[in-house]
Amino acid sequence: MTDEAGLVKVKAFNRKSAIPLVMSGLGEVGAAVARLLVKNNAELTTRLGTHLYLARVGARRAHAKSGLDEALRTHDVFAPVQHPRADILLELMGGTDTAYELTRQAFAAGKSVVTANKALVAERGEELLQMAHAQGVHYLYEAAVAGGIPIIKALREGLIANRIHRITGIINGTCNYILSHMHASSFADALKQAQDLGYAERDPSFDIDGTDSAHKITILASLAFDMPLAYARTQKIGIEHLQSQDLHYADQLGYVIKHLAVAEVRPDQSLSIRVHPALVAKASPLAQVMGVTNALMVESEPLGRTFFSGPGAGGEATASAVLADVADIVTGRELPRLRRQRKMSFTALEDLESEFYLHINAPEKQGVMAQLTSILSDEGISIEALHQQEHAMEDKSAVPIIILTHKTAHRNITRAIAKIEHSEASLSEVVHLPVFAA
Ligand code: HSE
Repeated sequence: MTDEAGLVKVKAFNRKSAIPLVMSGLGEVGAAVARLLVKNNAELTTRLGTHLYLARVGARRAHAKSGLDEALRTHDVFAPVQHPRADILLELMGGTDTAYELTRQAFAAGKSVVTANKALVAERGEELLQMAHAQGVHYLYEAAVAGGIPIIKALREGLIANRIHRITGIINGTCNYILSHMHASSFADALKQAQDLGYAERDPSFDIDGTDSAHKITILASLAFDMPLAYARTQKIGIEHLQSQDLHYADQLGYVIKHLAVAEVRPDQSLSIRVHPALVAKASPLAQVMGVTNALMVESEPLGRTFFSGPGAGGEATASAVLADVADIVTGRELPRLRRQRKMSFTALEDLESEFYLHINAPEKQGVMAQLTSILSDEGISIEALHQQEHAMEDKSAVPIIILTHKTAHRNITRAIAKIEHSEASLSEVVHLPVFAA
């Protein structure tokens, strides 16, 4: 149901009568949506001019804190698709297989779908958006990125007249929580705390290996650059190899270590979409983002830099975004969007240039420093600062050497590190992190 220009014809809701919603999935997010629909019903009714209510919920298990009338719940997660009067399905199950099939069936039944499922949107969203488009229904996913921060609406609406150059995000609360607490506790303890607080994914390796952030930045890049969702082109490096001593050395140099998600247009117009840990100068607003808070810095023209921050994980933040998407469908506010299949080229991480932080665990031996500087010089890498740290308490035969380089290609750093690790100047793997120019 599209017109000649390919724009989706928006279904008009009769807001004089109450509007039923159906939902599949009743985990932390589903339960928070059920609560929010009741708790802030007066606000929603005033602002939308209609009453929203849950008419059927498909979930294998009940949720003790949802407040949901159990009579509305069915074990079959597909049952909500059959509801005769509901035009909007909330897909809050997670996972990519059953959720894909559910979404496909909902579109076929003429229902719009609102989702928090970043993995499904990033990995199979292109196909699903095309199905929705063909059916004249909506597929909205504000809740999939940065929880309560309305970044998708900002990109789609508020910044619509701007050309976006770069988005830099801290969009995994679990990683940011770990990095904010690693000074005081071990990596494992900080992860456990984030899990206990209900922020981590069911499999927390998706948080710490960068998969979760990669899904989210893929989604943001598609909106910022009017391009198809291209998860396969997003490169990711996680935080699992970081040591607390690197946070400490970075601190001494005037930086913090953050796990960043970046989507940018390079000067040659190629795109770089990536997730990796990086040193961020303490003066940058990104450096101030602590705990599970998410943040996004958008650089665009002519607006310049805009900065968004807020709760990015957890049931309440995500429920807030789910209902914002529902409101857009009900009011017809969601902007129809032409999808441009633009020709894209990508710059790989290896070809990006930046300053680098190197941590070499060197033997306490004459000539080591000369060897290191000579290897770096052979690779055309110039040194900005070099610090020999005190011995580690437990090992007096090794000494940490911290080097900050001038700008160089990642490829040169990789080559230099291979040489250093094969020389007598290093006792273990060299830690290397880019310095993010904010
Ligand atoms: N596991 C995610 C995080 C939750 O830690 O940010 C929201 O996507």
